[in-house]
Amino acid sequence: MKEVIIGGVGKYTPSKKITNDDFSHIVDTNDEWISSRTGIKSRYMSSGEDTSYMAAMASKKAIEEAGISVLDIDLIVLATCTPDMFTPSTACIVQSIIGAKNAVAFDISAACSGFIYGLDIAKSLMNSNKYNNTLVIGAENLSKFMDWKDRSTCILFGDGAGAAVLCKSKEAGIGSSLCKSEGEKWDCITIEGSDVDSPFVEKKTLRDSKLKMNGNEVFKFATSIIVKSINEILEDNNLTLDDIDYIVPHQANIRIIEYAARKLKVPMSKFYMNIEEYGNTSAASIPIALSEMYEKDLLKKGNKIILVGFGAGLTYGATFINWTI
Ligand code: UT7
Repeated sequence: MKEVIIGGVGKYTPSKKITNDDFSHIVDTNDEWISSRTGIKSRYMSSGEDTSYMAAMASKKAIEEAGISVLDIDLIVLATCTPDMFTPSTACIVQSIIGAKNAVAFDISAACSGFIYGLDIAKSLMNSNKYNNTLVIGAENLSKFMDWKDRSTCILFGDGAGAAVLCKSKEAGIGSSLCKSEGEKWDCITIEGSDVDSPFVEKKTLRDSKLKMNGNEVFKFATSIIVKSINEILEDNNLTLDDIDYIVPHQANIRIIEYAARKLKVPMSKFYMNIEEYGNTSAASIPIALSEMYEKDLLKKGNKIILVGFGAGLTYGATFINWTI
């Protein structure tokens, strides 16, 4: 069997829901600004659940939906920019929580494009015939890294996880993908690492482990690459926009998607949006959206879907999926 399909999806979000009004007590902001500038009304925030815990909960659901045993999972690829620890990988912790004893597990760091990168990496490894059933996870605990004094970032992000089980099949499932990076723009979004504080160096370097973002630069980048990526994926897969049932974009700002819809001349209804409820959950946003669409019974066998993501790096990517479940 040569093709790779999505055999099951699952999601997990913490139970604590934070509204825009809740932020007006913390920073100088209000519901009107946040809703009209971003499309966000609420987001879920961890009350101590780690990235690994949220990822494991989403994974259990995806495995159940795929109808396989956890012991059938032979590869775990976890995308996050907010791992539990520098080491071990969050994927290894997930492997332990869910009991996926037969898997090889590792993390990838591509921020909000991470799930798209993960699908591409997993599909390539599965095509090498080493692996048969892969868990691809996007999971984030962004609230750990917020600067609660910075109103331009702290209102944007939410926590959660989404997962997909990839299986081998005779049917066509995951089509061609594109994954790209523009490293010269690395400083547009950062969460710095640890301080340099060794007895063997003269000067201490203090690092800020809070998320910082040049929102305007990222906005410009996102609007240009979404249109470009979608057109490239259509061409690669010999499709036109009329063939596509849904475009599932990374949920960063509804105005970015409205711009892309206008440029592509497609109705907003073709884009699946849930930013209003979840905010921006980085690598988790696309698999959470897919899982929610599946739960709502929006996805039908044979549906043609484009996933498109962009974020820190700067990175971006897109994938075509023929929905098979
Ligand atoms: O997932 C990773 C990818 N990230 C993205 O795609 C994010 C892309 N960028 C964006 O979504 C937008 O740039 C933001 C939502 C981050 C910012 O929206 P904007 O419309 O670009 O606002 P701005 O940064 O140009 O700021 C406009 C004004 C400023 O005030 P002044 O200088 O005009 O007086 C800000 O200080 O809005 C102010 N502002 C706020 N006001 C109330 C910024 N944040 C807030 C806030 N509440 N939360």
